[in-house]
Amino acid sequence: MEFSTQTTTGLQQVRTAALGVGVFTDGILTPPAEILDRASEGAISAVLKSEFKGKANTHLVLRNLPGVKAERIIVIGLGKQEAYKAATHAAAEQTFAGLCASLNVTEGVSTLAGVECENTSLRSRASAMATAALRSQYRYEATRTKDIEPAPRLKKLAVWVSRSKADEVKEGLKEGTAIGNGVNLARELGDLPPNICTPTYLGDTAKKLGKEFKSLKVEVLDRKKIEAEKMGAFLSVANGSDEPPVFIVMRHTPKGGKSKDKAPLVLVGKGLTFDSGGISIKPAASMDEMKYDMCGAASVLGTMRAVAELELDREVIGLVASCENMPSGRANKPGDVVTSMSGQTIEILNTDAEGRLVLCDALTYAERFKPEAVIDIATLTGACVVALGHVNSGLFSKDDKLAEDLLEAGRNAGDTAWRMPLEDAYQEQLRSNFADMANIGGMPAGSVTAACFLARYTSAYSWAHLDIAGTAWKSGKEKGATGRPVPLLTHFLLSRS
Ligand code: BES
Ligand code: MN
Ligand code: ZN
Repeated sequence: MEFSTQTTTGLQQVRTAALGVGVFTDGILTPPAEILDRASEGAISAVLKSEFKGKANTHLVLRNLPGVKAERIIVIGLGKQEAYKAATHAAAEQTFAGLCASLNVTEGVSTLAGVECENTSLRSRASAMATAALRSQYRYEATRTKDIEPAPRLKKLAVWVSRSKADEVKEGLKEGTAIGNGVNLARELGDLPPNICTPTYLGDTAKKLGKEFKSLKVEVLDRKKIEAEKMGAFLSVANGSDEPPVFIVMRHTPKGGKSKDKAPLVLVGKGLTFDSGGISIKPAASMDEMKYDMCGAASVLGTMRAVAELELDREVIGLVASCENMPSGRANKPGDVVTSMSGQTIEILNTDAEGRLVLCDALTYAERFKPEAVIDIATLTGACVVALGHVNSGLFSKDDKLAEDLLEAGRNAGDTAWRMPLEDAYQEQLRSNFADMANIGGMPAGSVTAACFLARYTSAYSWAHLDIAGTAWKSGKEKGATGRPVPLLTHFLLSRS
């Protein structure tokens, strides 16, 4: 999809197949809607008096308005003006782009980004518009042969803006495009079935990105190399499956080369392409959704793609530890003790708490980059879903500055996180009589003890952990990956460059 600016002063003169304008409830018109209303001698206010109330998530298509050159006016409800916020704007843009596609038009013009909205800028709204539009065009097709809707013909969307502000909008569109592409890559990887999206497939996808973007260098370590690194905890999980594991290292180097004064930022993703639970096997219901247990890894690939597309002026490294968790004669057993890359030993009391086993070695590997900060992203615990539902990702960090920056990035991106505790008092729950730690901490505060486990591998640097178990995908009729937290991560990296 191509994004541009439309700087014709008189909105009524704009020729397009679909022109999107917002209205608030109680008949309050946005400035663009007002222009069209005046040009058409009250055609928009007339419908607002009768059938259309301007509620959020509603819309109306008007054709052939007198005095207006656009073929169709798509009136989009924005809800109450006093409650209008970034999320409502993004949803409205998504509705508009989605409608353009279903109306089978090839181009459209949106005026929504020009409407003031609290805690946003024109640039951030233009960014949100591009991301929302790209999101709306995502279709999972890879393994469907029937009943797939025809591919959307929508090719071009423009933002209506005055000429003096067009550059600001273009910057935002560029940013939003990179984020949207990253989000859709993460969604595709998440949605692909686990017999296709294997660790090898993730490795191949990373290599492809390395070919596509000059700034990205990609290395994929195979089992032998992972063994040479002594990643004993990761390997103990991988060994239960016939599917070979991979450890992916992606490096984005800015155009001018590495800067000497700024240490790299490192992302670490959990890449379980299927989590059956292993010997501590999961119940059958919804087990298919454990194909999404690689969404942390997918968000790392998606964010690295965005970083590369934006040519971010900051060194960023993406690490992914990927394998399957399966029951077999070579799988971990409850009671096994394994030695992690850090040298610390772990008593495995539940083979389904495998994410932390995979991540702890990746976190140790991250030390070699002497990073400014490391952020791991993982569908780590069902307990996090209990705590925060599907609204916020769980954020754990002892570094207040890092935590606040991530929370803020999430707010700005419309991809929010909520801070959870990470005090040493919880560490007690991980006590083991037979190893340095156990891999589970019992029922209470399950997402916190999981984070506490990881904390034991991060003493060399500033670190944060995002538990995305509740936010990475949707269940039920709308089952599908969300691409979260690619927007949060990209905004964070932008804020540090
Ligand atoms: N991948 C799961 C976490 C998960 C479960 C995410 C359901 C989303 C929905 C993880 O590997 C896991 O199984 N965690 C266990 C930990 C427990 C054994 C301490 C869990 O949450 O039940
Ligand atoms: Mn598990
Ligand atoms: Zn898992």
